[in-house]
Amino acid sequence: MDLGLADRVFVLTGASRGLGFATAQALVADGARVVISSRDADRVTEAVAALGGADHAFGVSADLADPEVARELVDAAQDRFGRLDGALISVGGPTPGTAAGMSDDQWRSAFETVFLGSVRLARTVAHALPEGGAIGLVLSTSVRTPLAGLGLSNGLRPGLAMVAKDMADEFAPRGVRVLSLMPGRFMTGRNKELWAATGDPATAAAEAAASVPLKRIGDPTEFGRVAAFLLSPAASYVTGVAVAIDGGSLRTL
Ligand SMILES: NC(=O)c1ccc[n+]([C@@H]2O[C@H](COP(=O)([O-])OP(=O)(O)OC[C@H]3O[C@@H](n4cnc5c(N)ncnc54)[C@H](OP(=O)(O)O)[C@@H]3O)[C@@H](O)[C@H]2O)c1
Repeated sequence: MDLGLADRVFVLTGASRGLGFATAQALVADGARVVISSRDADRVTEAVAALGGADHAFGVSADLADPEVARELVDAAQDRFGRLDGALISVGGPTPGTAAGMSDDQWRSAFETVFLGSVRLARTVAHALPEGGAIGLVLSTSVRTPLAGLGLSNGLRPGLAMVAKDMADEFAPRGVRVLSLMPGRFMTGRNKELWAATGDPATAAAEAAASVPLKRIGDPTEFGRVAAFLLSPAASYVTGVAVAIDGGSLRTL
């Protein structure tokens, strides 16, 4: 199947590593070009090189919490590659801990980055997209069911999924799609940090794998391929949904 990605241009945040980078790889492998961003400039430069260099990728070092970043990323896509066809909005996961255990400052910081940063970029990209454009928000299975010890995620992700649904309605008449992705457990830096924080990472990883119906942690490429498909013209009738990529973990339909 031809996904129709050739020469399309996508902005991806949180894309120097992890799920964002895996999606950039899948998009580029099918002929798209990408503007990738994250905070650490050296990591962005390394990721651009790993994606094949300047013909395929352009890097911007930026914090999603910065109000100027949304405009900067849209401009970078148009200036560098002459068009913009979509975005994958990913960001580092919020600080672990229960919802009640988080301070006001921790809630504010997570809201500014994870929530408002994502909303601001989604609406800025949506206004800039032509018919056929698509936006994906990388959320979590905490959209549907709480994850132990991830209170900030449990609090913010369901709201973001509903923002995506709201935007899907608003932009659908222009032929622009908006959807959410709900990763389960993937072997990325984010999970390695969470497992390390337990003091026994090997046991934590083994227990996590055993709890997944497919009995393994996902490889980021398995997320990237699904995300690239959902952002592609091949998924042209898919919008307003939250798609789980979780090895069967979610207990809800
Ligand atoms: N991996 C999983 O199993 C899993 C499961 C459920 C949900 N998720 C969610 O999916 C998202 C991505 O997870 P991941 O596993 O890919 O994480 P990751 O491997 O830690 O990568 C996170 C990426 O986001 C960038 N980043 C972090 N904070 C940022 C900020 N404020 N502004 C811009 N970029 C930022 C990081 O680079 P810099 O540090 O250089 O900025 C990095 O490129 C997270 O929100 C996570 O909670 C992941």
